[in-house]
Amino acid sequence: MASVTLNKIAKVYPNGFKAVHDIDFKINDGEFVVLVGPSGCAKSTLLRMVAGLESITSGELKIGDKVVNRAPPKDRGAAMVFQNYALYPHMKVRENLAFGLKLQGLPKEEVNSRVLDAAKLLEIETLLDRFPRQLSGGQSQRVAVGRAIVKKPQVFLFDEPLSNLDAKLRASMRVRITELHQQLKAAGLPCTVIYVTHDQIEAMTMGERICVLKEGRIQQFDTPSMLYNQPANTFVASFIGSPEMNILDAHLSVDGNARTVTLLGGKSRLPESKLSVHGTELAIKLGLRPENVLVNASDEKDVLWIDCEISHIEYMGSEVFAYFRVGDSTITSRLPASQATLVSSLKRGDKARIGLQLLHSHLFDAETGVNLNSTH
Ligand SMILES: Nc1ncnc2c1ncn2[C@@H]1O[C@H](COP(=O)(O)OP(=O)(O)OP(=O)(O)O)[C@@H](O)[C@H]1O
Ligand SMILES: [Mg+2]
Repeated sequence: MASVTLNKIAKVYPNGFKAVHDIDFKINDGEFVVLVGPSGCAKSTLLRMVAGLESITSGELKIGDKVVNRAPPKDRGAAMVFQNYALYPHMKVRENLAFGLKLQGLPKEEVNSRVLDAAKLLEIETLLDRFPRQLSGGQSQRVAVGRAIVKKPQVFLFDEPLSNLDAKLRASMRVRITELHQQLKAAGLPCTVIYVTHDQIEAMTMGERICVLKEGRIQQFDTPSMLYNQPANTFVASFIGSPEMNILDAHLSVDGNARTVTLLGGKSRLPESKLSVHGTELAIKLGLRPENVLVNASDEKDVLWIDCEISHIEYMGSEVFAYFRVGDSTITSRLPASQATLVSSLKRGDKARIGLQLLHSHLFDAETGVNLNSTH
């Protein structure tokens, strides 16, 4: 059993800086969880506290049923993979993989069989007699993962392991690591993974659940689809999804069951939703994903049409991102490239008409940024 439980965990560095503020969460045995957030939000600090490489200021950390706040790293059943791989340059791959196990005093046959098993799993058997300097970035990264695997840890800790790789290799390693997690589960050896990244695409594609952090506080801990479809606040809404969600200043009037939204000089009735609002007039932020912004289309129900100017077009291959200017705001629309006639008609500087599909809008408190749909 290797769940990881954080109970009111805080971290104050010796210089007095509070990097982590009373974090609570439980990662289940065998679960793949991603910690994501911008630089400095304390992802590495949290991971290093779990590994035992950083002291815990207050709160309780459990791995399985055991409180491990003061346990040395080697007694925690966790193995960490770092961004810079940290391979020993003077040792061949085989020795890099075996080194930790020899230190533990495991018998030679056991060491050899674990090294071979890991090498097979990661398809690095042919590299065992090379030195790290003779490996590509992706191969080095696989060796670094192998060094964690041979320890048969209950918990894998990854700190931005792919950030030194180019985009293509990053995408294939992403798949490999998630497959590895599933393979181990299928083989009856489930391992818990805590994976740190600042890349929301990596987070969304790899995590069974994702913990979004900002300045040492959890913003939302949820499945990828919940983060995308029901973001807890404007921070999560803009962090998850690419291109970013459009977030516009708006005004909401509530009159009995009728709700009217005013934004960008337009006004429209809002479709039925489970809004929890107090007061009859309030300032809000209205969020709309780029895929919910129509361009020059025919009228549809629950759409607010706005006249604007095309400021920029980006061709991405299978889709097109179009940017529109309305007063001081920029609104992004994402269009499938299959709408070829429409796409080819869009020219920078031309006038256009965009349709905001209000049925898909997210409403946030203007001051706190909290989602006003009461599902949280
Ligand atoms: N030894 C330290 N002493 C004081 N403050 C520190 C120390 N180490 C980290 N910090 C601060 O704690 C905060 C969290 O740092 P941390 O390295 O955990 O962030 P991160 O989310 O991993 O960022 P990145 O994405 O850049 O790796 C930052 O504001 C950082 O400056
Ligand atoms: Mg970090």
